[in-house]
Amino acid sequence: MYQPAITGTGVFTPSEIITNDELVAAFNAYVERYNAENADKIAADEVEAKEPSSAEFILAASGIEQRYVLDKTGVLDPAVMHPWLRERADDEPGQMAEMALDACTQALEMAGKTAEDVGAVICAASNHERAYPAIAIEIQNLLGIQGFAFDMNVACSSATFGIQAAADMVKSGSISSALVVNPEICSAHLEWRDRDCHFIFGDVCTAVLIERAEDAKGPHFLIKSTRCATQFSNNIRNNNGYLRRTRKGQMEDRRDMQFMQNGRKVFKEVLPLVSKHIAAHMAEENIAAADLKRLWLHQANKTMNDYIGKKVLGRDPHPGEQPNILQDYANTSSAGSIIAFSKYSNDLQSGDTGLICSFGAGYSVGSVIVERA
Ligand code: COA
Repeated sequence: MYQPAITGTGVFTPSEIITNDELVAAFNAYVERYNAENADKIAADEVEAKEPSSAEFILAASGIEQRYVLDKTGVLDPAVMHPWLRERADDEPGQMAEMALDACTQALEMAGKTAEDVGAVICAASNHERAYPAIAIEIQNLLGIQGFAFDMNVACSSATFGIQAAADMVKSGSISSALVVNPEICSAHLEWRDRDCHFIFGDVCTAVLIERAEDAKGPHFLIKSTRCATQFSNNIRNNNGYLRRTRKGQMEDRRDMQFMQNGRKVFKEVLPLVSKHIAAHMAEENIAAADLKRLWLHQANKTMNDYIGKKVLGRDPHPGEQPNILQDYANTSSAGSIIAFSKYSNDLQSGDTGLICSFGAGYSVGSVIVERA
């Protein structure tokens, strides 16, 4: 058995930012347009008028102040309301692979390693731009990595589930290292025309390099233990798939073909699930709240994180103990907790313990207990 460790991390952040004010201005222009175009049907009670959004509501309900996206022009055009993402030809790198290259290169550089040192690539994300060949194999090819690669999808928990898969393989000796990469192009599966959720997501790509601790060249985190759990729920759902095409070969503009959620139910059901999951994981590993130096939580909602932090620690977290990045990035699905880990872990001292936790659609929850070596 080998001791797995996280030896490098990388975060690719898109260059375009949408603030809440910009987002709401575009959304409200779209609403005005929609209501004007449907005025007769609205008057006849055949169509429901759309309500405007508000930046104050978004900040208060979620803690989100802005989001990074691959393309803001389409999203902010009231006549479009989705990003313009150029479809790639089969002989050029895909969008996910391109982001992944950047994040993986950062992770390798941080660890002082090259592609030759990597034995596997797992592309773990909540949406993939095509069915096959696996995005992970494309990333493997572009980086020049030997070994094997595969995609996996556990929605917002993809990264932690990917870390568990890689850590278990390193532990058993079937591989000596793996890149777990999370290209999350959430802007492509968010329904920007839905007031209840149009503010939720942003785009990003994170990567972690997992190696045998004995191969680490620099500062690293030992993966002490991982724990994954799932429980079926329809409260976060996206029906997009091969059934989307109609008989005429066209793509349907159906609401259920983008991200949908029953936010209130998610809030109520996921909070106890996550709190219990973390408590059980810590108990199993004999880790008390006082032993935890940091929590890197899934980044969906500030109130949710405040609640979980308080439940896990048994008190209000001190500043910096449970860092949030959602105010800048919004919800970036599986990448959120890894962004927080990547940006807020360097100051931990040898022997310090922390916990990465993600949760979301499925439902799914994954926790990773790490110790600074
Ligand atoms: N602007 C202004 N008002 C809005 C609005 C908007 N964009 N969206 C909703 N509202 C209104 C609603 O119509 C409702 O009005 P009412 O009280 O008159 O009926 C009110 O604000 C509250 O709406 P609600 O949807 O209940 O808000 P909320 O407090 O539950 O916050 C979320 C919404 C989505 C931020 C919150 O439910 C959440 O974060 N849930 C968990 C999400 C999650 O983790 N998902 C995982 C995704 S991977």
